[in-house]
Amino acid sequence: MTMLYHGLEARGAVWARIFADRLPHLPFRRWGHDRVDPAEVRYLAAWNAPADFISQFPNLEVLFSVGAGIDQLPIAALPPQIRIVRMVERGIITGMAEYVAMACLALHRDLPFFISEQRAGRWTYRHTRLASETRVGIMGLGELGKASLEMLKPLGFVLSGWSRSAHDIDGVTCFAGEEGFDAFLAQADIFVCLLPLTDSTRGILCHETFEKMPRGSAVVNAGRGGHLVAADLISALDSGRLRAAMIDGTDPEPLPEGHPFYSHPSIFLTPHVAAETRHGTAGEVLADNVQRLLAGDALLGEVDRSLGY
Ligand code: GLV
Repeated sequence: MTMLYHGLEARGAVWARIFADRLPHLPFRRWGHDRVDPAEVRYLAAWNAPADFISQFPNLEVLFSVGAGIDQLPIAALPPQIRIVRMVERGIITGMAEYVAMACLALHRDLPFFISEQRAGRWTYRHTRLASETRVGIMGLGELGKASLEMLKPLGFVLSGWSRSAHDIDGVTCFAGEEGFDAFLAQADIFVCLLPLTDSTRGILCHETFEKMPRGSAVVNAGRGGHLVAADLISALDSGRLRAAMIDGTDPEPLPEGHPFYSHPSIFLTPHVAAETRHGTAGEVLADNVQRLLAGDALLGEVDRSLGY
């Protein structure tokens, strides 16, 4: 029985030490570094290993994503008995909450406008507002959405959230399901997408959605590139329907040279850095999860394959 790791070498070195310490009887092997008997591999930890790589391991039981998302893995091609587990770890969660707070403050305080005025050599006064006058709506109320709301609360923003299922979060107006979507869209000024990418959320940030937001809203895509219809965003910004956007996930990644997101004056672009898996904390979570697995306990972050997250 072997745990195989496929990914960044530096992370593999840290995880090998954690596993040697916490699970000395479970061989931890690093792809490209250690000798591996494919028939022995029961557990695989990977970020985006392709299907033809994964199919080499006939006895695979559990695929652990190195990241919070699983859409980068070839889920549809995996036999149904293979369990899939998301990475739920403090480093990713805190990193995302920081990014969301930064994005909301930057958009709330009109940073894209002030930066373009500065670049144009203009001293342009524009009235500012307090956070208590700005409404932030979070799309997706999983670990990342909830932590982001907690980070935003002390700043004073008026908070709401929307997700597939109903939630009750102190100080947050919650909306749920398709039936709650339009009402949610009508009542915020900055919208932050933290949804998992599934068949039902692909392209959710599109013309139709932007039309239902108050005119002059801003959008943050800290989810995946597949959530956003790029051409619809550009036309919503150009027409003034949206005021600005901050984008971390794009499709494709990396974004090709010359893509309008690089130069649009109302877009802030970051290269998929909103939340990074931290070697130490994530290694401990993976080891905890393998211990749970061996004890027959429920796993943290196990994916419901029928929902896709
Ligand atoms: C990063 O995008 C992740 O899924 O952790």
